[in-house]
Amino acid sequence: MRSAQIYERVHNNLKHLKLMTIDSLVDDHLETAAKEKRTTLEVLDYLLDQEQKSHEDRAFGIRRRLSRFPVEKRLDDFDMSFQPSLDPAVIRDLASLRFIHHAENVVFLGPPGVGKTHLALSLGSDAMKQGFRVYFANAADLIERLEKASHDNKLEERIKTLNKFQLLIVDEM
Ligand SMILES: Nc1ncnc2c1ncn2[C@@H]1O[C@H](COP(=O)(O)OP(=O)(O)O)[C@@H](O)[C@H]1O
Ligand SMILES: [Mg+2]
Repeated sequence: MRSAQIYERVHNNLKHLKLMTIDSLVDDHLETAAKEKRTTLEVLDYLLDQEQKSHEDRAFGIRRRLSRFPVEKRLDDFDMSFQPSLDPAVIRDLASLRFIHHAENVVFLGPPGVGKTHLALSLGSDAMKQGFRVYFANAADLIERLEKASHDNKLEERIKTLNKFQLLIVDEM
């Protein structure tokens, strides 16, 4: 086969297989790889790794959009010393996300303004980064939406959708 035909077939196959990152990188990378005398395995590894990363980024973006988080909060920004009644070891344990693997519930109880939502969003954000599908809802909104779904005979459908999430954060119980 002539080089031009090979070139065309490579790009057609990459597009057909939806390997769009490799499709956009391969030409430049082959040039660099030749100059730097990289092995075929190194070239393959680099290109596949870039493709994998862009798939991950896209999936994370979708998870983030579906999560409906009102704001982004980080555990690193949570001042433990500010809440003496809170055991840092418990928070560290929660941060391992073991409770999601074990399908356990976590309840944060306390007066307004003590960081319950902050903690829930931080753990949810970490879970999302780990690949979990997370959904945030205000309890009153969630009940209203479920009531509406029930009224429209769509309750089962709505619950099925909620069941797709591995972590459901229900705020303002
Ligand atoms: N210990 C803390 N360290 C850092 N920020 C905190 C802490 N506790 C609360 N906050 C911040 O104070 C505000 C109110 O906290 P929030 O999580 O909404 O409280 P709650 O949900 O318990 O009513 C938020 O902006 C939150 O980020
Ligand atoms: Mg709150």
